[in-house]
Amino acid sequence: MVTEAQSKYLVAVIGAGPAGLYAARQLASQGVHVVLMNRDIKPGGLAEYGIYLSKHKMKEGLRKQFRKILESPQIEYYGNLVVGQKADFSLKELGAMGFQAELVTVGAQGTKWLGLPGEDLVGVYHAKDIVYHYNKLPPFSQKKFAVGERVALIGIGNVMIDIARWLIREVKVSEVIAVARRGPAEIKFTKKEMESVARNLDLEDLDQELVRVSAVMEGVGQDVKAAKDFIYSALPKAEEPISETRFNLKFLASPSRIVGGERGEVRGLEVDDTTLVPKNGDTKAERLGTKRVLPVDSVIFCIGDRVDEEFGLPVRWNEFVKNPEPRFPIDGASYEAYDLETEKPVEGVFVAGWSREASSGLVGVARKDGELGAQAVQQYLETLSPGENIPHDLDEFRSRISQLGKRVVTKEEWQRLEAIERAEAERLGLEEYKFGSNAEMMMAIEKPSPQPAD
Ligand SMILES: Cc1cc2nc3c(=O)[nH]c(=O)nc-3n(C[C@H](O)[C@H](O)[C@H](O)COP(=O)(O)OP(=O)(O)OC[C@H]3O[C@@H](n4cnc5c(N)ncnc54)[C@H](O)[C@@H]3O)c2cc1C
Ligand SMILES: NC(=O)c1ccc[n+]([C@@H]2O[C@H](COP(=O)([O-])OP(=O)(O)OC[C@H]3O[C@@H](n4cnc5c(N)ncnc54)[C@H](OP(=O)(O)O)[C@@H]3O)[C@@H](O)[C@H]2O)c1
Repeated sequence: MVTEAQSKYLVAVIGAGPAGLYAARQLASQGVHVVLMNRDIKPGGLAEYGIYLSKHKMKEGLRKQFRKILESPQIEYYGNLVVGQKADFSLKELGAMGFQAELVTVGAQGTKWLGLPGEDLVGVYHAKDIVYHYNKLPPFSQKKFAVGERVALIGIGNVMIDIARWLIREVKVSEVIAVARRGPAEIKFTKKEMESVARNLDLEDLDQELVRVSAVMEGVGQDVKAAKDFIYSALPKAEEPISETRFNLKFLASPSRIVGGERGEVRGLEVDDTTLVPKNGDTKAERLGTKRVLPVDSVIFCIGDRVDEEFGLPVRWNEFVKNPEPRFPIDGASYEAYDLETEKPVEGVFVAGWSREASSGLVGVARKDGELGAQAVQQYLETLSPGENIPHDLDEFRSRISQLGKRVVTKEEWQRLEAIERAEAERLGLEEYKFGSNAEMMMAIEKPSPQPAD
């Protein structure tokens, strides 16, 4: 085993979702000492707090891999530790404490607003907050979401299906309406995911909708039957319905306003009718100027996320800016953070996973991206001059942690928490058990272990 003092390099990986965890493993395998810092007490990111709540097998499979990664003595873990401009540590501070490189894998924690009138009404939410809520991530686990009976979901990808699934199979609302700015040929959800809710589809309404949009589809050379077959293909293996919820899909409708009532509540979603225009081998939605209002009492945006603007790295569009001419390209891609003002890379700072490409791809994609980001970091480390290559220790980092005035969770404490939650799940006969607040998690960690009887 290579100890911290013997390691040639010391790297901070910020964010312990799939990208950060697999990056940490890759770096450790090359003799790097890795300090993994994570906002949440538990590692896993969206694999723990995003993937749908009933996908126990998939989640447990991933947890097993994460546990194995974190067994490495070359990877230190600090949960409940936030990095950012106004957080526990800034990137600059970490650099000054002896980390030779920082790999940012904090996901896409910002919110993508469309700037529509009415976005601030009660009953308007973003999918990420809701998935964090039902997956019990504090503080979202403790928040109330005033979801009504008729819910519009904006966007038509797999996240929309997850939210629809929760509304249809857990909350059991009266109606869910998924609103797509483009048409049935531009659906982003997969057949497999649709199978969880397909039996709630209002097929009569769907058929009428497909007839309504067929002329526009044919106008851009799309196959209406193929699009219809795709949606219907989810029916044969669909899950049994357990609610009366009507599930409707509305196409060629771009949201323009959320209509509010006197008490600040949602009364409807106003949409612009759109048509499809060919663009670079794809299509784009163009507003026609005619509007209609869908009578709903809640609106949930399922349109993807953006990175956290407050983190301390330059942001453009929805992502941290990458060096357009990477010094350490991997498969032609850039993993280097870039400062648009100075037009220089941010020295020693790299990005990977959803921090590099927001809301893009499955866990496997984030894993690969983390590993490739780690390779870019390794290339950078090898360029450091001998003076910068001296072994660094973590004394200052550890002493600063103890001065933060908050409880930072170590690897051993997280392992203890996991064991306690597993035991609780077993006791209650549940697939899994999660404490719903940080305070409860901390209390469990601090509780003395029962002593064996003499
Ligand atoms: C609702 C939903 C459902 C999904 N379902 C599936 C599925 O079924 N199957 C599948 O393969 N993929 C699924 N995905 C995709 C998958 O979750 C992502 O591809 C993957 O989690 C992205 O990994 P990441 O590490 O880049 O980011 P994340 O998973 O978001 O991890 C980011 C980590 O960074 C930490 N962090 C954030 N900010 C800070 C900070 N300032 N300081 C320190 N740490 C910080 C967080 O605590 C978190 O642990 C789903 C995604 C969503 C949104
Ligand atoms: N079970 C699973 O496997 C699972 C579950 C959840 C998420 N994921 C993965 O996580 C990633 C993110 O998923 P996602 O559903 O958030 O993203 P997505 O697949 O990109 O879908 C986003 C949807 O939002 C729409 N949209 C985006 N911007 C919009 C705007 N300004 N106005 C109106 N509509 C807009 C998009 O329409 P346009 O096409 O017109 O842009 C699209 O329909 C995907 O890779 C997904 O597969 C997987």
